[in-house]
Amino acid sequence: MSSERSAIILAAGLGTRMKSTKPKVLHEVLGRTLVGHVLRSVRAIRPERRIVVVGAAADQVRAHLAEVAPEADTVFQDKQLGTGHAVRIAMDANPDLKGTVLVAFGDAPLLRAASIAELVEVHEKKGNAVTVLTAVVDDPTGLGRIVRDNEGNVLRNVEHRDADHAELAIREINSGTFACDADVLREQLDRLSTANDQGEYYLTDIIELAREAGHTVGAVVVDDPTETLGCNDRAQLAELRRILQGRINTELMKSGVTMDDPATTWIDATVKVAPDVLIHPGVQLKGATAVDSGAEIGPDTTLTDTIVGADAEVVRSHATQAHIGEGAHVGPYAHLRPASKLAERSKIGAFVETKNLEMGAGAKAAHLAYLGDVTVGADANIGCGVIVANYDGVKKHHTEIGEGVFVGCDSVLVAPVSVGDGAYIGAGSTIVKDVEPGDLAVARARQAALEDWVAKKRPGTVSDKAARRAKGEAGVSEA
Ligand code: UD1
Ligand code: CA
Repeated sequence: MSSERSAIILAAGLGTRMKSTKPKVLHEVLGRTLVGHVLRSVRAIRPERRIVVVGAAADQVRAHLAEVAPEADTVFQDKQLGTGHAVRIAMDANPDLKGTVLVAFGDAPLLRAASIAELVEVHEKKGNAVTVLTAVVDDPTGLGRIVRDNEGNVLRNVEHRDADHAELAIREINSGTFACDADVLREQLDRLSTANDQGEYYLTDIIELAREAGHTVGAVVVDDPTETLGCNDRAQLAELRRILQGRINTELMKSGVTMDDPATTWIDATVKVAPDVLIHPGVQLKGATAVDSGAEIGPDTTLTDTIVGADAEVVRSHATQAHIGEGAHVGPYAHLRPASKLAERSKIGAFVETKNLEMGAGAKAAHLAYLGDVTVGADANIGCGVIVANYDGVKKHHTEIGEGVFVGCDSVLVAPVSVGDGAYIGAGSTIVKDVEPGDLAVARARQAALEDWVAKKRPGTVSDKAARRAKGEAGVSEA
């Protein structure tokens, strides 16, 4: 027997009940599409070839696969004539396939890599021709039932709608995942018929056909039946998401991550979280996000493709493609847009929005600011209400703020402009020219006073009375 292994993933169905313009297998669950999860798990058997059967919205599925699994080939199934028909098309397109062929569904994302590996190992060790992955479930409604003889040998699968009363009581179901010997599979696929309630070619019939042809068939029962759950509608999509959330969070907590509230913590399968990270309620970590040890995230924070350094703190904030340095502090209520890079110990505080920012070590923008297309030197202090005006209506321009610069409150820096190291900018300035190191730049109207204006123009008002009291005028009492 050849030791070659391949995987065929069925993903041709549209998934009508999803009520979506997007094909079912492209819906996402915690960082990967449904089919993306499956392609990831089948890696466990190191398949030489990965063949995805596409049909409905094939171009969309192909484009996605080119991105997430360029090593996968696709074959096109024009009409969805059944799971057996889909596998046959894949086999016909790959006539030289040998050894073990794993068949899995593209809409069953919870199947663990370890279960797939076990299925294939048992299949090969026992020298089976067909081995089906099964589960014992409380409610088998709609699923194929595994019929065994008195000794427990697998005889066949019967679909729910073709089952008789006794068969309907069986709680061991077909997961849809099979390991097959390529030659036997090819031979038995040829013999499939459509003599069933749906008039489809059922892959499941190969269990009985192979056995009758004298081959050994078997089953591996998966411990956790939730692994076999598929997705047909949005409610099931949400359920899959919740189950995967539980798995991911349990794994992370076992590895040393503290979660105040795992139920409201949503971490993609693609995210890395180091031990001794503390996660508060309402946190979502997505995509290529990675959080280093000692960091504290949340509550109510969403980080996408964001790197968080050791001991950093991110409170009630939203970040995308940001890099938050060691010991840096973000939030509450900060918005870090793409390419925001905060060096160690820097601070982005309440209601600060950033984009394409390089924040030097120890630099601070503690409140109410917009920092776009700007480099801020180490230990600079950006006052409250500062705006870096990066956009002239047509183009974006860069601003350079040096080391140790102090930008006074409510200043506007109109890009392109550069502020030299150690310079000060007076509060309320609009800076349109470069500032030399160590200078104080003040760019605002000088203050003028119109003497006794209130007494002349607002006599008798509370302001007038207060002013008179302040000047100690007789006849104006405190009360
Ligand atoms: C199938 C199994 C059933 C099992 C259940 C587990 C068969 C006949 N039945 O039923 O025993 O308990 O899965 O969820 O296999 N597909 C194609 N091309 C086709 C038909 C299907 O690519 O022509 C794909 C679908 O997109 C889907 C998967 O195969 O991803 C399963 O097909 P579906 O029709 O949903 O099978 P079930 O009725 O769920
Ligand atoms: Ca299904």
